[in-house]
Amino acid sequence: MENKVQPYCQSCGKSFDILTYLRRCPVCGGLIFFRYPPGTTLNFHEGRSIWKFRKLLPLPEGFEPVSLGEGGTSLVESSIEEDLFLKNEWLNPTGSVKDRAMSVGISMAKAMGFKAALNASMGSAGLATAAYAARAGMKCAILVPENAPFTRVAPMILYGAMVIPLQGTIQNALDFVEETCLKLKVFETTTHRPSNPYQNEGTKTIAYEILEQLELAPDWIFVPRASGGTLAGIHRGFLELFKMGLVDKIPKFVACELKALNTFELALKTGAKTEAELREIASEMDESIETMGVKLAHAYPVDGVEALQAIRDSEGTAVSLSDEELLEALKLLAKKDGIFVEPSSAAALAGFLRLRSVGLVKEGEKAVLILTGSGFRELQTITPDLSSVLQAYDTHQATSLLEEFLANG
Ligand SMILES: Cc1ncc(COP(=O)(O)O)c(C=O)c1O
Repeated sequence: MENKVQPYCQSCGKSFDILTYLRRCPVCGGLIFFRYPPGTTLNFHEGRSIWKFRKLLPLPEGFEPVSLGEGGTSLVESSIEEDLFLKNEWLNPTGSVKDRAMSVGISMAKAMGFKAALNASMGSAGLATAAYAARAGMKCAILVPENAPFTRVAPMILYGAMVIPLQGTIQNALDFVEETCLKLKVFETTTHRPSNPYQNEGTKTIAYEILEQLELAPDWIFVPRASGGTLAGIHRGFLELFKMGLVDKIPKFVACELKALNTFELALKTGAKTEAELREIASEMDESIETMGVKLAHAYPVDGVEALQAIRDSEGTAVSLSDEELLEALKLLAKKDGIFVEPSSAAALAGFLRLRSVGLVKEGEKAVLILTGSGFRELQTITPDLSSVLQAYDTHQATSLLEEFLANG
């Protein structure tokens, strides 16, 4: 093998030049992964962003990364339980885990000569696309559903993106993105491997940082699940660390998903593995449910095959959660640890509490929760529950309220 990173097809094995634009394998339609030169090791101590791990990221030498300082997020011990650690991915530049992926994706797009980026997302990936395209000096357009909340769309517009509300379902929008990107030679920033194999390489750096911060591999990792790409990426990072001899085990991976969209839970019960089997399970579900866990509302996990394999290989599992459990977990994190995440992200704690209560996570085992997104970006899904605190008082009433509050416990 040459002394540089090489994309290859997982199904037919064909390798490609790193600057050839790839989605699925152009020969057989298989998924694209990356091979790094043998003996490549990690640089733990220089710098803070994901780019300190550049030797294990696909961007070839000679190209500047498009970076906003993503990565290097803190890992703190929780006061909710012993041996529970919180990986604060909500601290990334646009408030979510997707910034790691987007930095790699947009850096590759720029290196390959793309002038514009396109995505269909009113969530984390849409926001991250707008920010990183702005940083790269690229044009950016984001397709959103007709009823997208203004608070999600406004920052995209401020980042300079053209926001286009599109009629129809999210699946229509994703199909449109694929066709349009191929027709107009625009880079698709959807964070799913079948349409963008580059971005997930950014996500795996979470595993490197957990090792750096914890100095060992934890027993469990809890990840909120939509496409499954974040879970699969972190798992692959640990596999690489294992092959390098830097960890002696792979943590058990737990996908934390919505009760109404529990595709992984059902797949693990029925033995489903393939894209077709997952589509079959998802076809029975209604994605248009009302939920606080908006970022997890995906019936068909596009990176599901890879993520399920990671769960099975690591002897992990999937947990499905109600909105009440998400909200309880969100409040607990805020009150006990001073950390405010969005409901989708709180799924990691809700999943952990469930497995701890049934004794699957045992005392003394170390668990890491991936806190994927900031609560400050999702106030509109949370605040109705808190609206009563907005009533106004005069100063006498305020003094009595304070006295009562301070006297109690
Ligand atoms: C805040 C948040 N958490 C979790 C996820 C799930 O990530 P994945 O789609 O990689 O499973 C997303 C996806 O957009 C997200 O925005």
